Amino acid sequence: MSILEAEGITKHFGGLTALSGIGFHVDQGEILGLIGPNGAGKTTLFGLISAALPPDRGVIRFKGEVITGLKPHQVCRRGVARTFQSVKVFPNMSVLANVMVGSFFGRPNTVSAAAAEGESVELLEFVGLSAFAAIPARDLTLANQKMLEVARALATAPELLLLDELMAGLNPTEIGLAMDLVTRIRDRGITVFMIEHVMKAIMCVCERIMVLHHGEKIAEGTPKEIAASKTVVEVYLGESAYA
Ligand SMILES: Nc1ncnc2c1ncn2[C@@H]1O[C@H](COP(=O)(O)OP(=O)(O)OP(=O)(O)O)[C@@H](O)[C@H]1O
Ligand SMILES: [Mg+2]
Repeated sequence: MSILEAEGITKHFGGLTALSGIGFHVDQGEILGLIGPNGAGKTTLFGLISAALPPDRGVIRFKGEVITGLKPHQVCRRGVARTFQSVKVFPNMSVLANVMVGSFFGRPNTVSAAAAEGESVELLEFVGLSAFAAIPARDLTLANQKMLEVARALATAPELLLLDELMAGLNPTEIGLAMDLVTRIRDRGITVFMIEHVMKAIMCVCERIMVLHHGEKIAEGTPKEIAASKTVVEVYLGESAYA
């Protein structure tokens, strides 16, 4: 069963076509990868799903209901959360308070301060940041700021989580931890749609992968099918994918 479906999604920035008639679905409970060269339109697509940007054409449905035309906070309260390619934490607030923002503002129902704090403490534990709860978010490393964004997104109690290059800039140990985290998020019953350039992560963690190039969907399939696709190898992966 699909949790998210999109048809005919088109987005122009002036004369540039960032997305051209994209159609796809995300199955409930899966980890779907989104790959493609720089400028392919991946982040733009997440912007459209999360309502940060309006599409020029096309429709997006979440759990069978049209979400195109809603405001970003309305999409979040329906159950779609995201992280950002360039991290956006609240730098002067504590790590714990950053997560509590998600509980307070991202849910359809009001959450008490005590409940928000309790859940945020648990989420910091889940992403491995318990030791840093009281420090300002600006003092975290890049990798930990990314983990904080994940915790804040999870605090909105999403059913679908969009991760935009969670692993970019992380070292191999941190990438391993992030791959494990993505799997544990899905094991909590949350569907994951992730943009990533770290191929090891995409190939190991995702059940399905979609490939964008110049705003068009050029392939979709299992990691094995994508690695074997001549088109994908030509435009993105390169011959090393066969190695
Ligand atoms: N707000 C904007 N205004 C104008 N052009 C934009 C805007 N956002 C994106 N673009 C352009 O749209 C195209 C798609 O950009 P997008 O950020 O979606 O690519 P991407 O696939 O996420 O790339 P990357 O892998 O580098 O993050 C690019 O040519 C980009 O320059
Ligand atoms: Mg991007």
